[in-house]
Amino acid sequence: MQYKYCGKSGVQLPLLSLGLWHNFGDVDDFDNARRMILHAFEKGICHYDLANNYGPSPGSAERNFGRVLKSDLKAHRDELFISSKAGHDMWDGVYGTGSSRKNIIASCDQSLQRCGVEYFDIFYSHRYDGVTPVEETMEALIQLVRQGKALYVGISKYPQDKQQQAYDILREAHVPCLLSQYRCSMFDQKARRQNFQCAADNGSGIICFSPLAQGLLTGKYNNGIPEGSRAAKSSGFLQQSQVTPERVEAARQLAVIAEERGQSMAQMALAWVLNDQRVTSVIIGTSSVGQMDNNLATLEHLDFTAEELERIDQIISDPVLSF
Ligand SMILES: NC(=O)c1ccc[n+]([C@@H]2O[C@H](COP(=O)([O-])OP(=O)(O)OC[C@H]3O[C@@H](n4cnc5c(N)ncnc54)[C@H](OP(=O)(O)O)[C@@H]3O)[C@@H](O)[C@H]2O)c1
Repeated sequence: MQYKYCGKSGVQLPLLSLGLWHNFGDVDDFDNARRMILHAFEKGICHYDLANNYGPSPGSAERNFGRVLKSDLKAHRDELFISSKAGHDMWDGVYGTGSSRKNIIASCDQSLQRCGVEYFDIFYSHRYDGVTPVEETMEALIQLVRQGKALYVGISKYPQDKQQQAYDILREAHVPCLLSQYRCSMFDQKARRQNFQCAADNGSGIICFSPLAQGLLTGKYNNGIPEGSRAAKSSGFLQQSQVTPERVEAARQLAVIAEERGQSMAQMALAWVLNDQRVTSVIIGTSSVGQMDNNLATLEHLDFTAEELERIDQIISDPVLSF
């Protein structure tokens, strides 16, 4: 595994991190989830990305992760970098969602319990909720650090003006933003254009989610929707309507370049995100150990020629591909 410093901090993360959004809930096969968590650790993927609502059911990914931690990784807590987040819908009532201090503090306590850990390595505000003043949310994150419930804090999906405000408040409190989490893939370059430079200028690391556009960039949808895939599952976040003919055609064209590079589509798509030097790590979501191994092999061929990048750019620059 290769590791990289998070922005202007002393913390390193693996280039590939493991996300537990799908495939680790109580609708999924626990033994498979356990195998993936342990395989990741063996391969140096020491960063696990969680959130209160990951499942389904909400909370079950954290509970399952906690089970594996307790049974298999207890002795290795200091070798792991564990995240959680609060901000999306989690429990009933007005306090179970959003970015208020009330939600963030209660949610972190619940997540710590589910995971069976004393602290998170990083705790994020999962989203700017459009209402809560950024000061309130950041003060809640700062409080978590002061209380020892989180070592570092981060923001996820913040629009640029709120992003800058968050960095300023956190810096002033001497709790600098360690990581900014944004969606980024060949099919979604919005954050790359709007948020990455602001993060880099403020010394924050950048960690990218859905680097494979939830599977669209693996080529698995090039001949229809395979059984058992995320788009085929009722619990999957990828809608069949998002598997558009234009995206499938672009994936087919990208597959030709990947083949010339001697890589799988997934590997090329991950390498492309990592090719932006501002990016610290990409969060992969896998449904099997085999997929994880395939993705790990990305690290054997990360560089691109200028000509490859130009050809890729020509394919992905069509705005109809964007989410
Ligand atoms: N901050 C936020 O708001 C936010 C939002 C979304 C995600 N995230 C984080 O980012 C993580 C990753 O997101 P994501 O799951 O959407 O990532 P992704 O890498 O874009 O998609 C993962 C899916 O792609 C397929 N896949 C992965 N590797 C493959 C391979 N080598 N060959 C074939 N198929 C492959 C699998 O789909 P199948 O299931 O079809 O096999 C897998 O479930 C999440 O787990 C979460 O931690 C954060």
